[in-house]
Amino acid sequence: MEARIVTLPGDYIGPEIMREAVKVLTRVAEKYGHSFTFEEHALGGASIDAYGEPLTTETLAACNAADAVLMGSVGGPKWDGVPANVRPEKGLLALRKGMQVYANLRPCRIHPQLAGACPLRPDIIREPIDIMILRELTGDIYFGKRFRSEDRTQATDEMAYSVAEVERLARIGFEMAGKRRGKLCSVDKANVLECSRLWRETVQRLSKEYPQVEVSYMYVDNAAMQLILRPSQFDVMITGNLFGDILSDESAAIAGSLGMMPSASLGDGTRGLYEPIHGSAPDIAGRDIANPLGTILSGALLLRHSLGLEQEAAAIEKAVSEVLDAGYRTPDIYSEGTEKVGCIRMGDLVTERI
Ligand code: IPM
Ligand code: MG
Repeated sequence: MEARIVTLPGDYIGPEIMREAVKVLTRVAEKYGHSFTFEEHALGGASIDAYGEPLTTETLAACNAADAVLMGSVGGPKWDGVPANVRPEKGLLALRKGMQVYANLRPCRIHPQLAGACPLRPDIIREPIDIMILRELTGDIYFGKRFRSEDRTQATDEMAYSVAEVERLARIGFEMAGKRRGKLCSVDKANVLECSRLWRETVQRLSKEYPQVEVSYMYVDNAAMQLILRPSQFDVMITGNLFGDILSDESAAIAGSLGMMPSASLGDGTRGLYEPIHGSAPDIAGRDIANPLGTILSGALLLRHSLGLEQEAAAIEKAVSEVLDAGYRTPDIYSEGTEKVGCIRMGDLVTERI
């Protein structure tokens, strides 16, 4: 098949990890007889430096015209001083909103080879952990009105959700749970927030249409605790933008490395935005020690969800697993008895196995 992929390397380690992911995808195309074209655009700090804004209309248009978009990472101290409305992160949020990718999939699985990197006690992770965090991505307090009083002493961020926004996200959650282990946990703060009461009512109403899915409701504070006490109880978790942001970092820590975690952001069609969940890691940029696996695995999700290439996606995941089996580790996941490799080498090792 032919596919046009927009790449947005972004800032600091972004370009390094993106090069490795493109290398892997190029190999997949070669092996399976596809033709992928990569079109690179600036996002975040890189775009501020080049055009004075974190996301240009041209870049957004290119993303919306592509079959899929792969992003590296944005932000960093270089742009700490810039006004809030042109911060690098603002570019990423505008991109998610502009592409209408409201459903963010953040899978959390412990690679058996990396169980040693999981900070939880071995008896807690004895049962398999395979959680899909489904985070609403284009609403909530992230996109509400913001206000700062003239004397700068008061601030407000508005949290807002509509039934329609909750419903489209929840439906994806129910369907996903139906294809997995049939369990859906809806996470909110309905004991305090009106948005959460609307969220819960909506999920409760929809649940009648999915009798085969077992639904539970959990307050976010309890969910944060349950994730470390007994992570194996979760299958699919659905939650709002802010809670999902927090819980997905927690789940990444459980999985042993933020550097390994991919994500997919989807809307109504097949077009999606794919990115590792980690940040731009300014402290290690340019030293060839970043972990490219989160971006490489995001590339696998891209093949699966936007291009419908399941076999190819699985080939990448298998190659990553084999490289870990063979004992190769970037410094962030290194442990005694394994072999330390850099970012480029890690990309090569995965590529060779496809
Ligand atoms: C994430 C990040 C972003 C978010 C930041 C960079 C705006 O933390 O993708 O989880 O909060 O969504
Ligand atoms: Mg985050």
